[in-house]
Amino acid sequence: MTDKLTENYENSLQTSCKDALTGLPNYGFFVLSLEKNIKKAVEEGKNLSLALLSIDAFSEINRKYGIIKADSILSVTGKIIAGNIRPGDLAGRLHSDNFAISFFDTDTDKAFEIIDGIKNRIKHDLGDEVTLSAGVSEAPSQTAIAEVLIANAKEALLQAKLTGFNETNFFSRIPQGQLNDNPTILVADDDPKNLKIMKTLLDSMGYRVMACDSGAGAVSIIRETPPDLVILDVMMPGMDGFEICKRLKSREGTRQIPIILLTALNDRESKIRGIESGADDFISKPADKSELLARIKSLINVKNLNRRLASFENILFSIANTVEAKDRYTRGHIRRVADLAVSIGKSLGMARHELESLWIGGILHDIGKIATPLEILNKPGALDDEEREIMKKHPHTGYLICHPLKKNLKDALDIIRHHHELLDGTGYPDMLKGDEISPAVRIMVAVDIFDALTTERPYRKALSREEAFGILDSMVNKNKIDAKVVDALKKSGIKGGM
Ligand SMILES: [Fe+2]
Ligand SMILES: [Fe+2]
Repeated sequence: MTDKLTENYENSLQTSCKDALTGLPNYGFFVLSLEKNIKKAVEEGKNLSLALLSIDAFSEINRKYGIIKADSILSVTGKIIAGNIRPGDLAGRLHSDNFAISFFDTDTDKAFEIIDGIKNRIKHDLGDEVTLSAGVSEAPSQTAIAEVLIANAKEALLQAKLTGFNETNFFSRIPQGQLNDNPTILVADDDPKNLKIMKTLLDSMGYRVMACDSGAGAVSIIRETPPDLVILDVMMPGMDGFEICKRLKSREGTRQIPIILLTALNDRESKIRGIESGADDFISKPADKSELLARIKSLINVKNLNRRLASFENILFSIANTVEAKDRYTRGHIRRVADLAVSIGKSLGMARHELESLWIGGILHDIGKIATPLEILNKPGALDDEEREIMKKHPHTGYLICHPLKKNLKDALDIIRHHHELLDGTGYPDMLKGDEISPAVRIMVAVDIFDALTTERPYRKALSREEAFGILDSMVNKNKIDAKVVDALKKSGIKGGM
C-alpha cells in the first residue's frame, strides 16, 4: 500500500515537471536542472552549451493548418529532439514552439552538429515546410547564471531568425562579423516585424545592432554587454519600456546609456511617463530614417563627451593621490577631510548635490600642491616667509588644474580655490570675507584645519582633540571660522588624526 502511494506520489511529481504534449521537461523543471548543470560545469571545470530552438513562423503554421496539426508538429519535434540528444544532455519545451537543450561538457561546434542532426531529421519527417532556427550560448565562459545564459541564447536565436529561417547562431559579446568601432545599439521590441525594420534601418546606417524581443531579455543583455544606446518599444509584455528605463537609469553602471523610447505618434501620455522614467528622447513609430539618425548621433555624442569628462575626473583623482604620496606628513589627509566634510554637511542638513561637492572638493582640495617643491612640502621645520608664499599658491594652482572641468565639478571648484579663506578676510588667495564664503567652503576650511592640527607635522606632534578644539574655538572667537561648523565637529565625536 505504502509502495503504491509512493509510486503515485512520484508519478504525480514527474507529471508536474513534464510538458503534457511532448513529454519533455517543462520550463520550470528545465531551468532548475539547467542551474544544477551550470553549477556542476563550474565545479568540474567543464563547458556547457545551451541551445534554444524555435519552429520558424509557427503562428503561420497554426493559422494555415489549425491547432491539431500544429500540436502534432510540436509533438513530433519534441520526440525528434529527445531522440537525437545524448545521455547527459537535457531537452525541454519552454513554451509554445520554443524548445531548449542543455549540452553538458560540450563545445559549441559539437552542439551545432547535434542541432544540424535534429534539423535534418525534422526535414525528413515533417517536410520542407517545418524548419527550426536555433541560438546557442555558453557557460561558464559567458555567464554562470541560468537566466542570463537563456537570455544570451534567446539573443542568438533572434539574430538567427533575423538572418533567415533555418539558421543557427552563437551568442557573442561582440556580434559576429561586426568587430568594428561603430557604436552598438540595442533594440527591444516584442513585434518581430518592427524589430526587423529597425534592425535593417540601423544596419544601413552602419551601427552594430543587438536585437531583443522582451524587456527582461533587454535588461540582462544590457548588463552583460552594455551598448552605446538603447531603443525601447514602450509596450512590451512583462517589462515595458518605462520599467526598463527606470531600472537602467537607477543603476550606476547603466545610468549613462542614452535611451530612446518608441511611441505612437502624438502619444503625449507615454512621453510624460517616459520623461518621468528618465528617457533621453522619443521617436514616433514608424521611425523616420533621418530623424532617427540625427537623434542617435546627438545622444551618442553626449554620452562620449560624458565618458571623456568622467575619465578626466578619474585622472584628477589620481593626481590628487599622487600629490598626497609626495607629502609624507599628510598621508590619508584628503580622504579623511572628504569623509569628515560630508558627515558634517549631512549633520547640517545639506542637500545631496552639496554633499557630492564636499566629497569631490575634499579629495581635490590640495591638488595644487603638485606644483609645490618637495623640499617645501617635506621640510622638517617651520616654513620661512618665501616658502610660505610658495605654499600659499596651491589653492589657485588647484583651481587652474580643475577649471576645464568646471561644469562637472560645480561647487567643488569653489572649495578647491577657497579652502584657505577666513571669515575676517585674512585668508587666501582671494581674501574673501563673511558671506562671500559659501557654507560648503566654511565646512572644508574648518575640517581641513582640524585634520591638520590632529596629525603630526614636520615641526610638531599631533595635537589631542581637546587641544585642537581649543585652537578652533579661539579662531571662532576671532571670527575666522564658522562657529556652527565647529559645533557640528564637536558633536560628531570625531577624534581626528590618523
Ligand atoms: Fe590646502
Ligand atoms: Fe588640506
